[in-house]
Amino acid sequence: MTDTAATTTGFGHGKVILLGEHSVVYGQPALAAGMQAGVRAHASPGAGSVRAPAWELDVEVGDDSPVGTAIDRLCQQLGVSGRTLDFWLETEVPSRAGLGSSAAMAVAIARAVAARTGAGEDDVLVAAALAETVFHKTPSGIDTAAASRGGVGRFDRAAGWQAIPVKRPIELCVGLSGQVRQTSDLVGSVAVLCERVPVARRLIDALGDVARAGMEALASGDQVALGHEFNLAHGLLSGLGVSSPELDALVRAARGAGALGAKLTGAGGGGAVIALAPDRAEDVLKSWRSMGRYGFLTLVGK
Ligand code: MEV
Repeated sequence: MTDTAATTTGFGHGKVILLGEHSVVYGQPALAAGMQAGVRAHASPGAGSVRAPAWELDVEVGDDSPVGTAIDRLCQQLGVSGRTLDFWLETEVPSRAGLGSSAAMAVAIARAVAARTGAGEDDVLVAAALAETVFHKTPSGIDTAAASRGGVGRFDRAAGWQAIPVKRPIELCVGLSGQVRQTSDLVGSVAVLCERVPVARRLIDALGDVARAGMEALASGDQVALGHEFNLAHGLLSGLGVSSPELDALVRAARGAGALGAKLTGAGGGGAVIALAPDRAEDVLKSWRSMGRYGFLTLVGK
């Protein structure tokens, strides 16, 4: 328990899903990483304001907004009234771009609150997961796990997050489509497709197989094989209807600039792509810049 007048802080990692988005919802394993970039939350005595200038976010705990509602529930779960605190968020990942911004925010705030109450990391995870249900209805839990753990991990719904040691960190190019989207809508659209067209379930199973193969490629340091898995995954995700013309264009440009593989990451429908381009990363970023899109590099496994 800390001095109640003090400001407490907490951090949550942004995430990239390397392989296995959407299929993870159906119990398949996924490969993901917590990025070094994330969200830092500062909690101090106040009246429930939540501000994140870089996201143009300015809400109150318990108002009708998704963030206000989520933080209200998160605080209640940790035994605190969120209306007695102010939250200031330093955000290093864009919001609603497929990079786990909401989970990073939830973990950061839960940690900042837990630092006041003495709650443990298990309580933090439960509270952050509760907040995520406001944004994503029925999340698999992968975003919260990556946000809290960082590093690289294998995640499935039954076993949760298992850290994967990575011998040499991999450099990933992350490209932003500039389109915002709603994860729960995309997860819902895949569910509808699987119901109406049962053969779509085979794409889900294939995505799980691709993720397993990607884990082997990562373990043996075979980036060429991992690049192939990225390309396969993008095709399968397109088949499930979660790509977009903008994401396809970013993926094509990355491959044209020499990437070994490229795919959408996260829920799709907009958001971000990742490309694996050892020695050609600058060319990939340049190709995206020439399309008017922003990209950056992140090290996975560091
Ligand atoms: C979102 O980051 C990943 C999805 O698989 C949804 C989830 O796992 O909750 C699309």
